[in-house]
Amino acid sequence: MTSPRGKFITVEGIEGTGKSTQFDFLTDQIEQRGHTVFRTREPGGTPMAERVRRILLDIDQEPIPEIAELLLFFASRSLHLQNAIVPALARGEWVLCDRFTDTSRAYQGSGRGLDMAQIETLADWVQGDIEPDLTILLDAPAEIGLERAKMRGDADRMDSQALEFYRRARQGYLALAERFSERFEVVDASVDIAAVQVSIQRILQNKLFSNLD
Ligand SMILES: Nc1ncnc2c1ncn2[C@@H]1O[C@H](COP(=O)(O)OP(=O)(O)OP(=O)(O)O)[C@@H](O)[C@H]1O
Ligand SMILES: [Mg+2]
Repeated sequence: MTSPRGKFITVEGIEGTGKSTQFDFLTDQIEQRGHTVFRTREPGGTPMAERVRRILLDIDQEPIPEIAELLLFFASRSLHLQNAIVPALARGEWVLCDRFTDTSRAYQGSGRGLDMAQIETLADWVQGDIEPDLTILLDAPAEIGLERAKMRGDADRMDSQALEFYRRARQGYLALAERFSERFEVVDASVDIAAVQVSIQRILQNKLFSNLD
């Protein structure tokens, strides 16, 4: 007998909304239900995809045109999906992924203003019929996210241009939550860590655990 396909869960949200912070909690919750969790993140997630990630972060070498950046993200995503995520789901594992295609939609599309139709073409091309079963959107105002990222020790990105960019990305995410309302769940991430966990627990219970156990 083959094991049933695992669930594919993505965590999204602008910088500092708590994606990494909530990752262990999400893992624990799913493991407590007896599932094996495959934890991964974008960009990266396989050796080759990690090499692409390093290119994307290496901003001092030469300027990366926006379209090249977008294509590199999707190239990395294709490697990640085919060589890590799909095999893990096929083994029956639950895949927990920190950022996925919605990041491209929110950041490159809504944030930078790249053509959303082109992003969708790339998404269709790279993903085929693979979609997350659940996308948890950690939502908070850009000011809060950037302030937290600053507290974490990141360079201060609170200049007005950055703030405007993250505001657009946040609105982009909220629009995605409306458009893909079947798979999206929006969590108020402006509250304390424990309160965010309560929301996450409720979502897992309602969306994934109740109809499986
Ligand atoms: N609900 C919360 N209330 C207060 N502080 C928080 C909360 N969630 C996370 N933090 C803190 O905010 C900082 C940023 O959180 P975290 O690194 O989890 O964000 P992230 O969404 O993973 O950001 P990035 O997109 O940059 O990876 C951390 O120092 C974390 O401890
Ligand atoms: Mg993070």
